[in-house]
Amino acid sequence: MYSFHEGYQKVLGIDLDGLPNMTAGVKNLKSTKDILDLSGKTAIVTGGAMGMGFCTVNRLCEAGASVVIADVAAEYAEKNLEYLSSKGYKAKFVKTDVRYPDQIQAAVDFTVKQFGSIDILVNNAGVWNHRLLHDITEETWYEIMDINLKGTVFFVKAVAPVMETQGRGGKIVNISSIAGIPEDPAPIMLEYVASKSGVLAVTKSLVRAMKPIGVNINCVIPGGMLTPGACTTSGTEEAKNIREALPPSPVADPDEVARVVFMLTTHISDYMHGATVLVDGGCCLGM
Ligand SMILES: NC(=O)c1ccc[n+]([C@@H]2O[C@H](COP(=O)([O-])OP(=O)(O)OC[C@H]3O[C@@H](n4cnc5c(N)ncnc54)[C@H](O)[C@@H]3O)[C@@H](O)[C@H]2O)c1
Repeated sequence: MYSFHEGYQKVLGIDLDGLPNMTAGVKNLKSTKDILDLSGKTAIVTGGAMGMGFCTVNRLCEAGASVVIADVAAEYAEKNLEYLSSKGYKAKFVKTDVRYPDQIQAAVDFTVKQFGSIDILVNNAGVWNHRLLHDITEETWYEIMDINLKGTVFFVKAVAPVMETQGRGGKIVNISSIAGIPEDPAPIMLEYVASKSGVLAVTKSLVRAMKPIGVNINCVIPGGMLTPGACTTSGTEEAKNIREALPPSPVADPDEVARVVFMLTTHISDYMHGATVLVDGGCCLGM
C-alpha cells in the first residue's frame, strides 16, 4: 500500500514534486484500440449458442479473441460457428451442460487443448420459468439453481487454476438479472430470483480468491432482452396472468448488453473487482 504521493513515484515512476501539472497518469497511457484488443486471448462463453451469449461471442471474436462456446444447444452452436468462420473468426463449440462439474472440466480441458490458454470466462448460461410458490418443486428448484448458480461457481473453480498457472491474470464476467436484485426481486420466478441474487453475491465473495491471482471478476445485471429464451419463456397460466398485469418494462437488442459484457473482458475492467454493472434501460428506475 502506498501513500498517494509515493504511489505517483513508485507506481507511475513520476516525481510529483517535479511535475508542473497533474498529467501524471498519461505516462502509462495505452491507446483505446489496445485497451479493447483481445488478440492472443482465449475466452469461454457458457450459453454462447444463442441470445446474449452469442452476441458476446461475436464481440469477443471481433476483438481478436479465440472463443469456445460451451452450451447444450449443439444445433444452434454449429449454425452460428458457420457464421463466425465465414467472418474469419476463431471459434469452437464444446457440448457442455453446466450443471455437471465433470462436463465443465472437460470444456476447460478442450479449450486449453484447442487454443493453449484461458484468459476470459463469461458465465452466461441461464434458464428461467414463470411459476408461483405453490408450483415449485425440488426438481424445478435444482434445475434452475444448478444451471444458473452452481454452473457459475464450478466454472470459476475450473478456470481459476489455469489462469493462476498462466500467471497473466484473467477476466471473469458473471451474468445476473434485474430479477435477482435483492431490493426488488421478481415475484413469479422464485428459483430464478434465488439463483440470480446468488450470482450477484458469489461474484463479490469470489473476489477474495480471484484478485490475488490477478483475475478481475465482475457481474452484469441485464434488464429485458429480446432473445430466444425470453421469447419462449414457459410458465403456469396463473403466473403468466400476474406477469401480464405488471407495468411494461423496456426490452433491448441483446447486443446492447453484450457490449458491456465485452467491455468487462478487456483492459477497461483492470481496476474493477466485484462490481455489479446494471444494464437495464432504466427499468429499475421505473423508466
Ligand atoms: N433475456 C432476458 O430478458 C434476460 C434478462 C436478464 C438476464 N438474463 C440473463 O442473460 C443470460 C442470457 O440470457 P438469454 O436471454 O440470452 O437466454 P437464451 O435462453 O436465449 O440463451 C441461453 C443459452 O444458455 C444455454 N443453456 C441453457 N441451459 C444450459 C446448460 N445446462 N448448460 C449450458 N448451456 C445452457 C442455452 O442453450 C442458450 O444457448 C442468462 O443468464 C439470463 O438469465 C436474460
